[in-house]
Amino acid sequence: MKVPLIDKFGRAITYLRVSVTDRCDFRCVYCMVENMKFLPKKDLLTLEELDRLCSTFVSLGVQKLRITGGEPLVRRNVMNFFNGMARHLESGALKELTLTTNGSQLERFSKELYAAGIRRVNVSLDTLSEEKFARVTRWGRLSQVLRGIDAAQNAGLRIKINAVALKGFNQDELLTLTEWCAEGGMDLTWIEVMPMGEMGSEGRIGQYWSLRELRDTLDDHYTLVDLVERTGGPARYVRLEETGQKIGFITPLTHNFCESCNRVRLTCTGELYMCLGQEDMADLRLPLRKFPFSQEPLEAAIHDAIKLKPKGHDFDYSRQRVAGQMSRHMSHTGG
Ligand code: GTP
Ligand code: 5AD
Ligand code: SF4
Repeated sequence: MKVPLIDKFGRAITYLRVSVTDRCDFRCVYCMVENMKFLPKKDLLTLEELDRLCSTFVSLGVQKLRITGGEPLVRRNVMNFFNGMARHLESGALKELTLTTNGSQLERFSKELYAAGIRRVNVSLDTLSEEKFARVTRWGRLSQVLRGIDAAQNAGLRIKINAVALKGFNQDELLTLTEWCAEGGMDLTWIEVMPMGEMGSEGRIGQYWSLRELRDTLDDHYTLVDLVERTGGPARYVRLEETGQKIGFITPLTHNFCESCNRVRLTCTGELYMCLGQEDMADLRLPLRKFPFSQEPLEAAIHDAIKLKPKGHDFDYSRQRVAGQMSRHMSHTGG
């Protein structure tokens, strides 16, 4: 039995989020700038290298693996990677293999994802208005995502919708999105907008819709029952008595959940970020490439990195200014 990954605050690291590409076929306004510069392809880890890295984390006690991007399904041959990871599900070492996607490629990949052992997919969708969808994603088409969601459900995948709460943008869709998800048998999680990537401070605060306020509005229309169950992610859930569906709240701003953080993030170039909201990072590509036949240096580098995991992020919008801003874009670390 190997030494498990435990940070200096006693938090066990059992959840690895892996960004397999920084590229995306959308350009969501809170995630990227329109003329985003992407990493040169030569800097990317190969799928075989990603497999070795993820497998090493699994051997060190990671039980939940979430594949992200950018948009993970635009990475060439990404199914080879999922199919490889399926062996850790079969062995029982991994409890969950899943992904967060913008949904644009689900029509094409859902059946194969199900066959690889994926049972649950989180789809980012902030609005049901075609016009607003085009505005917020800049490049996306709503109909394509809706077809993707249908295909995923037909393939047997459970869908959770992630919506970033944006003031003056989807505030008026709180009830329609809730009802649409209920009709489709989908849970819905709201996320407070975080200061990732350059954006004027005014822009970010202007966008910010606190989930405390959102929850109060929901409470005026439904009976909310707090749930203790967790998915291993940062969301806290309520059940709506009237519809039976779960509504999640991810509240980095109004309620910090860092004390129970169980996750780290691997980028497509092999950088390991210990926190979404801090710069602390370790380069795992070096030991990965320098020691192709020995696991020890890689495992030691991972243990050393986990020791650097900070207590939490410093995001804060109180006092009408943005604190804790990250210059890194969300697509770099995968949310
Ligand atoms: P479930 O397995 O369904 O619980 O998913 P999850 O919430 O772990 O993953 P998902 O990709 O759906 O995460 C939704 C969003 O939550 C991410 O894109 C981030 O915006 C945010 N998030 C996840 N983990 C953290 C974290 O550690 N810190 C902060 N500040 N935000 C996080
Ligand atoms: N703040 C909060 N959530 C964000 N996402 C992307 N950028 C931000 C941001 N600045 C969300 C996406 C997706 C997930 C991967 O991260 O909408 O659901
Ligand atoms: Fe692409 Fe997701 Fe970023 Fe939108 S939020 S640009 S879909 S990576």
